[in-house]
Amino acid sequence: KLAENMEAGARRHLLTVCVQVQRYLERFHLSLERLQDVSARLKKDLVRGLGKHSHQRAPVKMLPTFVRATPDGTENGDFLALDLGGTNFRVLHVRVVEEEQRVLKMDSQICAIPQEMMLGPGEELFNHIAACLGDFLVSRGLKGQTLPLGFTFSFPCEQKEIDKSILIRWTKGFRCSGVEGQDVVKLLREAIHRRRDYDIGSVAMVNDTVGTMMSCGYRDRSCEIGMIIGTGTNACYMEEMRNVKRVEGEDGRMCVNTEWGGFGDDGSLKDIQTEFDVMVDQMSINTGVHTFEKMISGMYLGEIVRLLLVKLTEDKLLFDGQTSETLLTPGKFETKFISEIEDGLENAQNILTELGLKWDDVDSRVVRLCCDTVSSRSARLCAAALATVVNRIRTNRNVDRLKTTVGVDGTVYRKHPNFSEELQATVRLLAPKCDITFLVSEDGSGKGAAMVTAVAQRLALHSCL
Ligand code: GLC
Repeated sequence: KLAENMEAGARRHLLTVCVQVQRYLERFHLSLERLQDVSARLKKDLVRGLGKHSHQRAPVKMLPTFVRATPDGTENGDFLALDLGGTNFRVLHVRVVEEEQRVLKMDSQICAIPQEMMLGPGEELFNHIAACLGDFLVSRGLKGQTLPLGFTFSFPCEQKEIDKSILIRWTKGFRCSGVEGQDVVKLLREAIHRRRDYDIGSVAMVNDTVGTMMSCGYRDRSCEIGMIIGTGTNACYMEEMRNVKRVEGEDGRMCVNTEWGGFGDDGSLKDIQTEFDVMVDQMSINTGVHTFEKMISGMYLGEIVRLLLVKLTEDKLLFDGQTSETLLTPGKFETKFISEIEDGLENAQNILTELGLKWDDVDSRVVRLCCDTVSSRSARLCAAALATVVNRIRTNRNVDRLKTTVGVDGTVYRKHPNFSEELQATVRLLAPKCDITFLVSEDGSGKGAAMVTAVAQRLALHSCL
């Protein structure tokens, strides 16, 4: 494919360049044995994260979510949902209709969060959230009702109850003061009470992975894993209560937010990190944190490719040895370029022109090969992590074969031309005794949060009866 539609001379030239480029690219190729080894290391880290005492220093946090059941189809009612975790903050009105077994998004609104607010005092952020919610309730005629609310908050939180959730640390561009170490639900309620013009009912706190699992759970009852491959990467799954040592009780299951992005933070992935991964980590605002995520997710993939292209140009293997101002600027090679370049040679050539580079046919093909190599490693590493989780569930249940469903979301998974295919094929090789169905979540962060709230209400009602 690399050399399609090329004349013999150019083909030979391409081959010579590729042989030298391989020196750098081979570090990104992870054989099946290597992936099995990565999976075995993560398997141990899942156990460390679950342990009562070992979890404190565990790189993979395995956070209890207090979600004890997936939907059973009897959930019902109207809910509000908040979704915070990217640049857009959203407010939603969601209806769960039991008769139709459907979750309907009745209405939603995006509220921009200004950059200064993402870095300013936490109180201002929560005042803004409360104001957006207030405006939404007034404009939709919902102000008089005290509806239950699902809050998708996609940052690592130490959850004490479904409605008590302490932020461990900010990620993804947020750095508001006075929020780390605090109960996020309390901060939200206080901001609403300061306004004195409306109130909300019970609150359920949800990580985006959990929302994704729950939004698929209404369609497919065997959905017990949620995975995100977007700006960040993470997964949650239903773990046996007897293994969740930090929460009292032995019976039933609880959803655990793995925060697998932190895998490798104790140095366990040093042997597979390339010089480019190390550079990306060192240039990031949180060096040493979320090592695994930095090899996989959308916030970092573009940067890995950019650094690789700069190196190849310095070695005179690309663009006649001439870089450009744009290529030398961090963040200018966007992750979405990877998908576009892999989609077609013409796209690759247009992007290289826009980056101010003087390219020839061979250059564009080599760049495409670089993108393919980096995105393919990302898909395979994700596959290794997911295989660890499904294999664990199979062992937990003590079954010979496991049939299960994974709810997935995230731009990298959705938008890249062959990411999902490669991920799925690799998981099947690494977890041969598991039959896995993949479902792309429809608005997991909105509908899923409502679903978590609905299930929590159903369970609360049962325990009262
Ligand atoms: C980051 C966050 C995690 C979230 C993931 C995907 O890894 O720490 O909580 O689920 O991004 O958005």
